[in-house]
Amino acid sequence: LSLKPGLRSSRPIGQMLRRSALGLAGRRFSTALAQEPAARLLEGRCALAQPWSERPKGTIDQMTGREVQTLSKHLGCELPSVDLTQSFNFEELEIIKQASDDAGGIVVFSHQKDTMTIHDHTRFARQLVASEDTVLEPHAVAAGHPLDSDVLEIVREANQHVVFGENWHSDHSFMGLTASYSILRIDDCPRFGVNDTLFSSTEDAFDGLSQTMQNLILDLNAYHSANKAYGVGHPGNSLAAMEGTDTMSMLAETPILESDVLQPCVTVHPRTGRRSIYVSPTFTTHVDGMKPEESKAILLFLCQWIARPEFCTRVSWRPNQVVMWDNRSLSHKGLADELTERRAVHRVTVRGVSPQNHRGESFSLTHKTKAAQGGLFEGVMDMPDAATAAARHMSA
Ligand code: SIN
Repeated sequence: LSLKPGLRSSRPIGQMLRRSALGLAGRRFSTALAQEPAARLLEGRCALAQPWSERPKGTIDQMTGREVQTLSKHLGCELPSVDLTQSFNFEELEIIKQASDDAGGIVVFSHQKDTMTIHDHTRFARQLVASEDTVLEPHAVAAGHPLDSDVLEIVREANQHVVFGENWHSDHSFMGLTASYSILRIDDCPRFGVNDTLFSSTEDAFDGLSQTMQNLILDLNAYHSANKAYGVGHPGNSLAAMEGTDTMSMLAETPILESDVLQPCVTVHPRTGRRSIYVSPTFTTHVDGMKPEESKAILLFLCQWIARPEFCTRVSWRPNQVVMWDNRSLSHKGLADELTERRAVHRVTVRGVSPQNHRGESFSLTHKTKAAQGGLFEGVMDMPDAATAAARHMSA
């Protein structure tokens, strides 16, 4: 057993070790703790399968222009014994959150009831937010689902080439209070192994940097912009993606598009103390206090770094599957490698806090600036290395 570099916790070390030991990739859950009622939630816990043979070859990542590969073995776990339609007490929710921490922030709730509804989904999420003393955060730009406005329905129509959420991002990083957990439920499920959700552990990515590079970026801050991804006039962005669907639309009022917020480039996870690279090609516009060329070079490096296979895993979709991820540990993207099929997912998002750097400082509630011009690839993607990929005009 080894603790991950940078791991800090206010929990007793013995408890932490015991819990981390339970989180080892590939191990089935079979200790005394499993006998405790709440811990039955962990029965059958296993690492995520990586069924390479069933996935299409040659999916190109538009950030790097290279084939999508995923190599992380310890990222993510499947909890096959959690029925999300049940009621959960505080202790049970804490066990689920701990399982998420142990798995780097990805929990796959497989085998949900066929009868699970959108209301069951939000009911689980509302129990989770109550345990965190927070609220659900509806999307700030896209209109919510008619049955529950806290639900973002992300749709790709068959043969739609510009799709929503297709470049790396952490949910709501353009907001003062960003997202902690997102909970995604499949509604219209793709064939197994295509149109997966791809995750990068931005914590492993930070740990993978040299000490010198870590020190270089530790005190940098960068602006994040909703307008970059959802502003009008860009044929490849998420607004265009919404317009290409029969059901998605923009809210009537979108004040978030008017100003961008400052976030640390390296954030500290409030539960685990792990440090994370917190920039994305989707929402980050520029590093504060740098010349444009400097900012572009460093953002391009970081965005390509987080996309390296060793930090990534992908979650394939099966019917009746729900995936919860921690935006404070991960960046993610919805792959679009099979465009002939319709795909629809429902997302609910938990309001987190203003992200903090290693000094405990946060800026997003106080440091705002006039929104950058919309332009999905501006700032990060217009460097020579990314030119080919940018020309693909894929969306965020
Ligand atoms: C998202 O960006 O939240 C959605 C990811 C996906 O569609 O797989």
